[in-house]
Amino acid sequence: MEQYVIKGGNPLVGEVEIGGAKNAALGILAAAIMTDETVTLENLPDVNDINVLLEAIECIGATVQRIDRHTVKINGSTIGVVSVDYDYIKKIRASYYLLGALLGKYKQAEVPLPGGCNIGSRPIDQHLKGFRALGAKVQIQHGAIVAKAEEGLVGAHVFLDMVSVGATINIMMAAAMARGNTIIENVAKEPHVVDVANFLNSMGANIKGAGTDVIRIRGVEKLHASTYAIVPDMIEAGTYMFAAAATRGDVLVKNVIPKHLEAITAKLEEIGCEVQEFDDAVRVIATGRLGRTHVKTQPYPGYPTDMQPQIAVTLALAKGTSIVTESIFENRFKYADELARMGASVKVEGNTAIIDGVETLTGARISAPDLRAGAALVIAGLAAEGVSVVDDIVYIQRGYEDFEGKLRTLGAEIERVSSEKEIQKFRLRVG
Ligand code: UD1
Repeated sequence: MEQYVIKGGNPLVGEVEIGGAKNAALGILAAAIMTDETVTLENLPDVNDINVLLEAIECIGATVQRIDRHTVKINGSTIGVVSVDYDYIKKIRASYYLLGALLGKYKQAEVPLPGGCNIGSRPIDQHLKGFRALGAKVQIQHGAIVAKAEEGLVGAHVFLDMVSVGATINIMMAAAMARGNTIIENVAKEPHVVDVANFLNSMGANIKGAGTDVIRIRGVEKLHASTYAIVPDMIEAGTYMFAAAATRGDVLVKNVIPKHLEAITAKLEEIGCEVQEFDDAVRVIATGRLGRTHVKTQPYPGYPTDMQPQIAVTLALAKGTSIVTESIFENRFKYADELARMGASVKVEGNTAIIDGVETLTGARISAPDLRAGAALVIAGLAAEGVSVVDDIVYIQRGYEDFEGKLRTLGAEIERVSSEKEIQKFRLRVG
């Protein structure tokens, strides 16, 4: 089992390059199998979740050809089965995007029902409601979702009960190849929803309104080849922005779309950082102790739930009492106890964390409870005095490409290790 070992206390300074958005790429990879022609995807992040979905796609018979670390060619003409293995869904929930993609293309699909996960129960009732509205018969059989539209899918009017990224993308994919028009209301407006829509359109789909509350789709019979580059990852970018803030550093975060980062930028400015915006970069400068704030997670363009642990860690070191409210997922404060072990004062009540900022955190042995909380705990380690060891970094590797390497270029003392001996060696080296 690999770990990160970190000697904290260095302000992060320098430049970091952001990769393609994991969550956009997951939808786009699934959508890529919807044509029989070859699709070339660029700017794919080299992270575990993406690699697992690529395996799942190969496993149903599609051809996957890696051109380089961030480029792949996919050909869906060789797909032989429409059922996805449980192993994949167990590893990444987003394999459920194959449901919308296969159902759209082949009018049938079978995907195991994903369970809950570390951040809470994660129902997919809205996805299924959408497929049913399009005329598919959807049943849960032996732990799997079995969807079939014998007469083909037919455009429909779908109103989502809550704003869901997953449901919006899944229904949009299926509807792209349905007969007639579909209107989906109360949809998610996240940049990765827009990116999946743009990609489908580049393959010949007719989707309008992605990025607003209503998506309108005119179904097409066939999709065709496309070459498409994935949008930059706003969550990866935001993570480095908060790493700069928490360590009182000065970091230029490159290859981003500053508009996507507005909620994050606003909070950083509120707590006293200077944020400079350029065409495709943002620079975060933090000097002195930061101030308190209140923040509530919301669907885009609100403050993202995937950035909640990172701001909480930063506020743990800010002056005064901050309140962080999580309104998307029920169990997203699992890092609070770990942070407390580093000397933070965090009290969780229901979906709210009350954080009394302390002047210093001290290094400790902590473990990553999930992807984003894991990244946030690394930030805590970078800001803390002394050495921290972060266990369970597999979670972090699901979504951050070369996290330790990028942090090192910013001056962080961090290493990926896999034994106590290596940890001891690191401790000796850093004194
Ligand atoms: C996606 C992201 C995830 C991010 C989240 C919120 C991917 C692969 N994952 O997750 O990283 O944290 O958006 O930005 O892109 N809900 C239902 N029924 C449904 C669907 C959702 O009740 O059918 C609820 C969920 O429990 C949650 C809320 O709606 O409370 C939002 O979930 P959703 O946007 O669907 O999150 P994911 O797509 O799973």
